[in-house]
Amino acid sequence: MQEMILDTDFLARIAPYIEPLTDEERSIYIAEGEESVKIRAEEGMPPGDYLQLVENIGLYLGKTTGEGFESHYQKISLPGSKTLLVIQLPGGGNLNVFLTPVGKMILDTGYGCYYKDCERMLKTIGAGDFSDVGFVVCTHGDADHCGASGYFPVAPVMHPVTRALLDSGTRGYASPNGREILEKFYTTTINTYSRMYVPDEVRLCKTEPIRKHGLFSIIDEFTFADMRFEVWASLGGHIAGQIFLYEPDEGLLFTSDALLNFATLTKERANYSSIADSMIGSVNVNSETARIERRELMRIAKEMDDDLKKSGRRLLICCGHGAVSILDEKGMLSPYSEPWYYSAKSC
Ligand SMILES: [Fe+2]
Ligand SMILES: [Fe+2]
Repeated sequence: MQEMILDTDFLARIAPYIEPLTDEERSIYIAEGEESVKIRAEEGMPPGDYLQLVENIGLYLGKTTGEGFESHYQKISLPGSKTLLVIQLPGGGNLNVFLTPVGKMILDTGYGCYYKDCERMLKTIGAGDFSDVGFVVCTHGDADHCGASGYFPVAPVMHPVTRALLDSGTRGYASPNGREILEKFYTTTINTYSRMYVPDEVRLCKTEPIRKHGLFSIIDEFTFADMRFEVWASLGGHIAGQIFLYEPDEGLLFTSDALLNFATLTKERANYSSIADSMIGSVNVNSETARIERRELMRIAKEMDDDLKKSGRRLLICCGHGAVSILDEKGMLSPYSEPWYYSAKSC
């Protein structure tokens, strides 16, 4: 019998993380893990290093849930007695919570494993709980953006391609790039270890272009409280089905993972973020398209910001990960405000 790289010791160490998998899913997962280790080894990554990355996801998520949960968050006052909380979670993308007189709106949910921690945090900082959430939007199918969507009281809104991507079980869906096994193994790893829970019933956004902002088509519009959000279709550089959201009255642009303020992540969060890149090679299914999207978003953001400045306002760029930012004199992302710190230990 051929010797397995994912040996008994390694499988024992990851056993608690893959506990939700059925026997069949577990066999497929292990076989895809073997393949992935070999692919990355050919690209220069020692098998031991690759396996350590996989285990580190479980260790990190375990360490940062419950009493180990901590976050930085920005509190942005909006007209009409509304507040936007942008919460940088210990791992993965931001949880955006709009507090409004008619209830809460959630834009990207964070990992499933952080849901309870986030609700506890909201209670502690005097922002209530999730029982009055009336609207949930997921910008794309990565677990750190939609993994807790099944816990909220309303069905989440997403692009139909995101629904199909989630059903397919791989973030490489509809993006053939020759790294299918790596994408699939990473997807099963992160979805399982972070306890992703997306409900069967979701609400699909429209997909027909209404008009355009530069290279991006506006495909739908949502309203919640007195806010109206344009839904922009991405070009799919990060992942197929990704959408951006823009609220013109408040000057809020949600770029999802097409634009990140990586420099504002703590060292631990930045290290954790780099695991996905190291496992797959790149978290962008098409790096060239991702570069075009980034450039275009920055160009549009500058244009909108210049426009808003005329009425004494600024465009707030709400990145997928990292602090809400504005453009500085050099046109670079700069944190909009000093974040507050929350730790579950201190409450
Ligand atoms: Fe993300
Ligand atoms: Fe992502």
